[in-house]
Amino acid sequence: MDMLQTLSYAPGRLTLLDQTQLPEIETNVTLTTHEAVFDAIRTMIVRGAPAIGVAAAYGMALAAYQAPETQFLPYMERAGAYLVSARPTAVNLPWAVTRMLKTASAAASLPRPARIAALEAQAAAIHREDETSNRAIGEHLLSLLWDGCGVLTHCNAGVLATTAYGTATAPFYLAAERGWKLRIYADETRPRLQGASLTAYELHRAGLDVTLICDNMAAVLMRDKKIDAVITGCDRVAANGDTANKIGTFNVSILCRHFGVPLYIAAPTSTIDLACPDGAHIPIEERSADEVRRVRHTPITAPDVKVFNPSFDVTPADHIAAIVTEKGILRPPFGPALAKIKE
Ligand code: MRU
Repeated sequence: MDMLQTLSYAPGRLTLLDQTQLPEIETNVTLTTHEAVFDAIRTMIVRGAPAIGVAAAYGMALAAYQAPETQFLPYMERAGAYLVSARPTAVNLPWAVTRMLKTASAAASLPRPARIAALEAQAAAIHREDETSNRAIGEHLLSLLWDGCGVLTHCNAGVLATTAYGTATAPFYLAAERGWKLRIYADETRPRLQGASLTAYELHRAGLDVTLICDNMAAVLMRDKKIDAVITGCDRVAANGDTANKIGTFNVSILCRHFGVPLYIAAPTSTIDLACPDGAHIPIEERSADEVRRVRHTPITAPDVKVFNPSFDVTPADHIAAIVTEKGILRPPFGPALAKIKE
């Protein structure tokens, strides 16, 4: 299968596929400073919870090159705080930076080349773990599906949101490897259209059977029994099982309850935040009004009309049939299951 490469790293250089240019152009940007990585996360050149965690980890490795000899740890702490401030909702970002800061602290007294090598090794470990967890999540999700079934996904929790098979999309790729024929539906996902420009694009490019729908079409498909399961990714799982994901996931979860369709949330354990008691405590990013006033670069309304543009919403735990991690499938009640899996 011809899969896209979200990011790659060589000493001192992080290369990102520029997702703001997709689907028209597949082009890379190469970054050498943590400030440039901040900008890439903020402007969504790289996006999706696991991918921004891995990018931030490499951003911290770049910061180790930039850090002055006498001010190594304070510099790394400032760089970490800066990277974390790029986007608020996905917990993978602070999770990865915290891990990198622990390594920075342990390596602080080493000579400069060894310090840099330690940070690069830790970032590479975070990267590798993401790849491994994609496959494991895919295997677990596949056990909930069958040859010929119909699955809806929302936003992009695919190759482009991670570093390998994606989370929500991993079972689609694994099913194809096994010769299964899934019918995949992708919500276009307004306002930024990640479902159309990224999910449908990457699945179609890989030769999978994907049908793109507008966000207001899922109910009709569910009524007509075309959808056997919904699988989405997530940006943060609270301790009680409430999950934040791209705006519109909550709507889909209400449809799932109405039509009795199971909603599976694909979540690497790096996305579980036990310090966050419930969905009300998850910070929700609000983005530019122009994302709603325009479709991509084309204005679709009055240039100064009022806009509400939360980038994420929270799906309550009782709308979720299972949270699927690399370590296994969690069923309700999620609180105890999440605490156990993070032990
Ligand atoms: O705003 P984005 O494009 O970063 O939002 C991405 C999502 O909401 C994904 O579904 C989520 O990060 C899970 S990615 C495996």
